[in-house]
Amino acid sequence: MIRYKKLGYVALNVTNIEKSTEFYREMVGLELVEKRQDIAFLRCSSDHHNFILYSSEKPGIKRVAFELEDEAQFDIAVEKIRKAGISPYVIPEAESNALYQGKTIRFVEPNTGLTFELYSQIKQIEDPYVPKVKGVKPTKITQLGHAVVDVEDEKFDGALQFFMDTMNFKVSDFSGDKIGWSWMRAFPNPLHHTFAIVRGNQSKLNHIAFMTEDIDSIGIGRNRLLDHSIPIVFGPGRHKPSGSIFLYFLDPDGMTLEFSNGMEEFPEENPRQPRILEPNLDTLDLWGSTPDPRFSAVGEIEKGM
Ligand SMILES: [Fe+2]
Repeated sequence: MIRYKKLGYVALNVTNIEKSTEFYREMVGLELVEKRQDIAFLRCSSDHHNFILYSSEKPGIKRVAFELEDEAQFDIAVEKIRKAGISPYVIPEAESNALYQGKTIRFVEPNTGLTFELYSQIKQIEDPYVPKVKGVKPTKITQLGHAVVDVEDEKFDGALQFFMDTMNFKVSDFSGDKIGWSWMRAFPNPLHHTFAIVRGNQSKLNHIAFMTEDIDSIGIGRNRLLDHSIPIVFGPGRHKPSGSIFLYFLDPDGMTLEFSNGMEEFPEENPRQPRILEPNLDTLDLWGSTPDPRFSAVGEIEKGM
């Protein structure tokens, strides 16, 4: 079974790369590491990148990348993906070098159409990441938190099975009478979820989350976003499943982002069983706020690799 270190990075398509790069630096607090003509690499850790922006005509999610536990996992991953009837694209060395990554594969998950990348190493930057934003007080981001996608109704069960059986994601919680949300951890990463799927009308991006050091970072972030007229579309509130405090807001293309503080962690051995939670507003927010209609409204899944 594939073993992971963490959610490595998310690549988004954005319609105005200059504007979005500025936004992710000044409003979110990521550090710009490298800018090529149509690509911006940003980080929130010692990794060369935890976020890549690609210039595109349509906003959306390009791919989600997970870092494997070690190099030994690479062959295991290739075999698992092949066993599921998918030919993974083993990235030529020149291409993985250009990404500052070790051995890397890419494949399209057949139900969501989402491209996944698995890699064994990434270049480490010696200077520590220091969260900086426009203004004085930053939101102290500790790491990229999770990616969530909507999956169209009839593809949902197949997707869930693929993530559990092929990718070795472990479900931490479900919600819904007919399972509607499925929060998963990239085993044995302890976080309640680094990836989640939501049953929807169509497959698309739901949101991307950044984890913060403290609750003050959420409040400080909220004031910064309000000061710059950035739409806040849900929260602040507290999610029942993970216990996280959240604040959702929109990037310049209208894609949904989250600042998230605190999360249940699972041991590798003898973890608690997943719960099936009520599909009500209390599960979404114990503090009683409700999402704005713009919440998770924008972001197609890029087809193909
Ligand atoms: Fe979230």
